Amino acid sequence: MSQVAVITDPLAMSAWAEETRRSGQRIAFVPTMGALHGGHQALLAEGRRRADKLVLSIFVNPLQFGPQEDLAKYPRDLPGDLAKAAREGCDLAFVPEPASMYAPGFQTFVDVRDVSQGLCGERRPGHFLGVATVVCKLFNLVRPHVAIFGEKDFQQLMVLRRMVIDLNMPVEMVGLPTVREPDGLAMSSRNAYLSPADRQRAVALISGLRTAKALAEKGERRVSALLSAARERMTPCVDRLDYLEVRAADDLKPLETLDRPAVMLVAAFVGGTRLIDNMRL
Ligand code: PAJ
Repeated sequence: MSQVAVITDPLAMSAWAEETRRSGQRIAFVPTMGALHGGHQALLAEGRRRADKLVLSIFVNPLQFGPQEDLAKYPRDLPGDLAKAAREGCDLAFVPEPASMYAPGFQTFVDVRDVSQGLCGERRPGHFLGVATVVCKLFNLVRPHVAIFGEKDFQQLMVLRRMVIDLNMPVEMVGLPTVREPDGLAMSSRNAYLSPADRQRAVALISGLRTAKALAEKGERRVSALLSAARERMTPCVDRLDYLEVRAADDLKPLETLDRPAVMLVAAFVGGTRLIDNMRL
């Protein structure tokens, strides 16, 4: 298992990308905020299969956190992350400092309009502006041929796919299914915040989603009925449902009837931790 090279300087990152491209090699890229888990590792494994060089970024992006959110306490474990990245055959980790990504005077943002509306975009104002801006910057520095993302952050993936199309970015976008714990809880860096009791309650999210999916498979087409069934499983266990909605899977437009491919999306607070999950119906 060879060590993962680490670059912190954006200029050095650019130079590496330039050199790698000049030598005719393909670059796969997995952007993360670190505290790597099985979900991230699945993305890295896919990236490894798809290119000559595999780059991981670890950057807890201040621009995508609201003032009341968990930026300061977001879990960080660089040595652990580098060991996991090495196991997945990662060649390079780009780990920039916030000051080098957002120098004084920074004032340019990527605003993806419609698909950023509602859901996490409504509950976390400015969140997707921060996500799209940082991923645009990372793409400019890493210059990947292919980038791998998780469907766990369904709306984020839609926002970033839109950005790549609208801004003519020459990057192939790959989305992978959510990796789950054995009991179904979606893996997340934020699961580390959960106490053992909260960890048990958190299973309510996936159990509600599975209940709705089973109903849909039996022929239920009314979104209101699917939402009620999911809500009934979730509300007794979580502290607060932030949102629970069914949207069209291709453009996130609200739906009343399952007359096109759909996805149920949930965000909920469990003991102060905000968790998200989703499932195609
Ligand atoms: P982060 O939450 O670290 O997630 C990095 C990538 O891992 C995202 O594409 C996310 O969808 C994926 N991921 C997270 N949990 C997953 C799971 N259980 N199964 C599969 N994939 C999973 O998302 C971000 O960071 C940031 O917003 C970022 C895109 C890096 C921009 O700052």
